[in-house]
Amino acid sequence: MSDSSPQPKKLFIKTYGCQMNVYDSERMAEALGTQGYVETGSPDDADMILLNTCHIREKAAEKVYSELGRFKGLKAAKPDLKIGVAGCVAQAEGEEIMRRQPLVDLVVGPQSYHRLPDLEARARGGEKALDTEFPEEDKFNHLARRPKAKRAPTAFLTVQEGCDKFCAFCVVPYTRGAEVSRPAERILTEARDLVERGVREITLLGQNVNAYHGAGPDGGDRTLAQLIWDLDKIDGLERIRFTTSHPNDMTDELIEAHGTCAKLMPYLHLPVQAGSDRILKRMNRSHTVDSYLRLIERIRAARPDILMSGDFIVGFPEETEADFQATLDLVQEVGYGYAYSFKYSTRPGTPAAERPQVPAAEADDRLQRLQALITRDQRRIQDSMVGREMSVLIEKPGRRDGQMVGKSDYLHAVHIENADLKQGDLVPVRILSSGANSLAAEAIGPAR
Ligand code: 5AD
Ligand code: SF4
Repeated sequence: MSDSSPQPKKLFIKTYGCQMNVYDSERMAEALGTQGYVETGSPDDADMILLNTCHIREKAAEKVYSELGRFKGLKAAKPDLKIGVAGCVAQAEGEEIMRRQPLVDLVVGPQSYHRLPDLEARARGGEKALDTEFPEEDKFNHLARRPKAKRAPTAFLTVQEGCDKFCAFCVVPYTRGAEVSRPAERILTEARDLVERGVREITLLGQNVNAYHGAGPDGGDRTLAQLIWDLDKIDGLERIRFTTSHPNDMTDELIEAHGTCAKLMPYLHLPVQAGSDRILKRMNRSHTVDSYLRLIERIRAARPDILMSGDFIVGFPEETEADFQATLDLVQEVGYGYAYSFKYSTRPGTPAAERPQVPAAEADDRLQRLQALITRDQRRIQDSMVGREMSVLIEKPGRRDGQMVGKSDYLHAVHIENADLKQGDLVPVRILSSGANSLAAEAIGPAR
């Protein structure tokens, strides 16, 4: 008997950049699943390669072009292979990509993923397919869902997209568009579905997630804090996180939720970008160092053990050594459990691109000094976990036999020597020691 069902086509997606791109890549795989695609882990046997790109810094965008160049051989060997560029580089440089790299068949911006099946069909027909519009309809609403496949215990869920803040260095308002929140009921339906498939921790995503104001069931707006309390009621969902927040949108009720909602994890990513008011003003951040510090004081009053995380840019146009020192002072004062620091990267079309730039060597030197301080603080805070009791959500086996790895409430990687633990277990532990990039712990109670 011969099997007449068509061979599935293979899709390879490479994801760059932020967690929202990770979420989007999953949605794109689902959309193309309706066209008979299954995912593969390698570009070599793919019928379609999609690069989901990031435009936030120059290096991120350049990586896309060098990666595309590497597919030349593959395409020559397999002329049917279709190559697509998605994400923020696609949005910002759409037609330019097709001109610069003729082997690209398809370009799709972050707001048009639901149109992928149609774009794919056009590309298969030999057309160069491009869609970088900002359509009115909710793309998430049109995306096909995968049948009830089992999932890893942690998942991202996009609740808000885009940004109206226009920080002077940032391309996000241009690539992701204006701030839009998804209706609460759709998010809750998606969350329940994730939990049914085995998800126990959900991270709510948005470029300005704490400005979330999606339509509620009664027609009014739901805030992020209200959404968190709605999620809190879902049985089987054990942990809630959200990222990325803007200091100006940290409301009292959200701060309070950190003290009262047991499922809301004690971790907050709250980028400040710089420690000098002069630079913050030039960055169009609309908060001061002092207002940021007072905000952290209030957050810590609500949840004393909260672990703070931040983003910093060094070498922003006109940043002086004194401005930079103020950033070091701020980092020292806050004590970040995690912090991400970047050298300012000129983004065409943003206001700061036109201003006098800090010499590259100086910016490099500042980045090194800032990272040394951050690394020291991160290690100190990680070490301070030793002896403490907390929970770990088990994600996968560790490198050694019988060892499992998961994440603590504070998002540190934790190793546990215990062969009885399995993926998805939430286990109470005591931290035994702190290593270079992770903690070691022992279980002190049964997993659930
Ligand atoms: N140059 C360097 N870093 C940037 N970021 C955003 N735009 C730029 C830029 N032009 C950083 C900010 C932001 C993080 C996601 O990336 O710190 O919070
Ligand atoms: Fe970019 Fe500023 Fe919006 Fe964050 S708040 S996405 S840094 S413009």
